[in-house]
Amino acid sequence: MTPYPAAHPILLAPMAGYTDAAFRALCLGCGCDLTCTEMVSAKGLLFGSVRTTEYLRLAPEESKIAVQLFGHEPDVLSDAAKLVCDALGERLACIDLNMGCPAPKIVSNGDGSALLKNPSLAGRIVAAVAAASRVPVTVKFRKGFDDGENIAVPFAVILEENGASAVTVHPRTRAQQYGGKADRSVIRSVKEAVSIPVIGNGDIASGADALRMLRETGCDGVMAARGALGNPWLFAEIRAAFAGEPYTPPTDRERYETAVLHAERIVAEKGPHGLVELRKHIPFYLRGTRNARELRQKINGVRDVSELRALLLGSEPAGECER
Ligand SMILES: Cc1cc2nc3c(=O)[nH]c(=O)nc-3n(C[C@H](O)[C@H](O)[C@H](O)COP(=O)(O)O)c2cc1C
Repeated sequence: MTPYPAAHPILLAPMAGYTDAAFRALCLGCGCDLTCTEMVSAKGLLFGSVRTTEYLRLAPEESKIAVQLFGHEPDVLSDAAKLVCDALGERLACIDLNMGCPAPKIVSNGDGSALLKNPSLAGRIVAAVAAASRVPVTVKFRKGFDDGENIAVPFAVILEENGASAVTVHPRTRAQQYGGKADRSVIRSVKEAVSIPVIGNGDIASGADALRMLRETGCDGVMAARGALGNPWLFAEIRAAFAGEPYTPPTDRERYETAVLHAERIVAEKGPHGLVELRKHIPFYLRGTRNARELRQKINGVRDVSELRALLLGSEPAGECER
């Protein structure tokens, strides 16, 4: 049972605080095959926390989505998975389990990457969630916990033995957080060791990066995170690279238009407060703009989308681009 709609799926990674419905819709529009919610607390869902439940709100374009859960208790995770299956019905592509988050708050509860230290519990979690779900269960994990540790292969084997339908490997340790280079050889070793689909993640910021990931690791699909911020066209670029076709990057005006569209979507989804949330995306849209700092400060002060539009797309050019 594969959760993916394509032989070599191009996936948007979960990113807490960034991959809300507004941003995911932009990525889908640019050719992403499947989006994923940010990590959602299994306990929060079961307690009916309003904020947590909001993570399950989809964009109209999202005919399918992966929902990522975090937690460490098999029964809590399987109950949460059942709840997600009921809430999303046919729109749910798979349940993804987070076994990679390095944040101290998460790890100290035994969640996220803490599970790398307890592979047998990780296996029991997968088995319980797979038994409770009518959709495939996938796992996203890191190569190890401590500096220099590489347990990716035995960990992936345990996940597969317990019923995981696919794995996404982010080949950094918890200790590395997001620093250093993602070690693609780890993904190749996992691909050689299991027969379920393996998705390669880490440092994909261009079509060429994605092709390199496929070729060097033999992975089945790719997942991009930071490279997509302010750049949903990354998916179009990867799609073109996979098809051997040329890719034309957006013009500066197109980038600003998309920033405004992003603002419209986020406000429609979250109300006026959405503009505050948009602020963290703005630096990414302004990459390469010479007066970005000044422009960002002005954008932080806008009261509605029309003010933002006037700043970015008004009669004067929004900013001089270095490129
Ligand atoms: C701001 C931010 C939030 C993230 N949140 C999540 C998350 O909720 N779940 C998860 O599995 N990974 C999360 N990650 C990790 C990414 O999904 C991805 O594995 C990592 O950034 C490496 O990919 P990249 O090099 O393409 O950025 C997050 C990363 C960032 C930068």
